[in-house]
Amino acid sequence: MNQIYEKLKRCVADIRGKTEFQPDLALVLGSGLGDYAEEIDIVAAVDYKDIEGFPQSTVAGHKGRFVFGYVKEVPVVAMQGRVHYYEGYSMSDVVLPIRLMGMLGAKTVILTNAAGGVNFDYRPGDFMLLTDHITSFVPSPLIGPNMEELGIRFPDMSHVYDEGLQKIVKETAGKLDIKIKEGVYVQLTGPNFETPAEIRMCRTLGADAVGMSTACEAMAARHMGMRICGISCITNMAAGMLDAPLRHEEVQEVADRVENQFRGLVTEIIERIGKE
Ligand code: 6GU
Repeated sequence: MNQIYEKLKRCVADIRGKTEFQPDLALVLGSGLGDYAEEIDIVAAVDYKDIEGFPQSTVAGHKGRFVFGYVKEVPVVAMQGRVHYYEGYSMSDVVLPIRLMGMLGAKTVILTNAAGGVNFDYRPGDFMLLTDHITSFVPSPLIGPNMEELGIRFPDMSHVYDEGLQKIVKETAGKLDIKIKEGVYVQLTGPNFETPAEIRMCRTLGADAVGMSTACEAMAARHMGMRICGISCITNMAAGMLDAPLRHEEVQEVADRVENQFRGLVTEIIERIGKE
């Protein structure tokens, strides 16, 4: 059997040794958004460090655990903290948690992140619904022998972000009076923020927001046939757009400021998905 698949099976067995909880929906909580776990009626939690071979998050502000429980009666698994390519993990390790959640039963995944605004119409504190992404600056997580158990060799990426879920997000935002932009997310490796020239390049390529995660996870989830929803919190404008240096603390501060809106939005989206 493929080594990566063997590792996945071992991780699933490790988790199953701790909880039999069956999630329908997976949630990835981005920088500054991890407190959303407080909205979950927690049934079980598994620390990443207690799963053998699991990549450990090294970024301050990212906790490291899976939380299992209910949001409005929907069984969910949430990742409180994710791992990033810039931490030095292979792409297959970066997407291992997503694949795990799929193997635990999650059919839908909501990916969230803190991102930099590339589109001049955006402001810090805005939300952006992902309509598509550009992953071309990072290696595909699907490189290597294909795991037929998960999906096909050449998966179609025409509709990564589920249109039904996009409709739900837009309707929910409207109902809650939250303005949400729609756009394309580009994933770069980080950990450095980009140069102004790189941000101009991203804009020319059609990107609206830039970040260091999410798109590779969406690709792995799509490979497995999961339904995907992506929401960015625009925490700052990207380099060269304002006359101010970029600071990681700013990402946390802005995420804190919009936390209540974010909580309301995600909870209501999950409730709607549960009623489908
Ligand atoms: Cl400006 N760039 C990247 N790559 N990630 C970010 C960001 C910028 N702002 C928040 N996350």
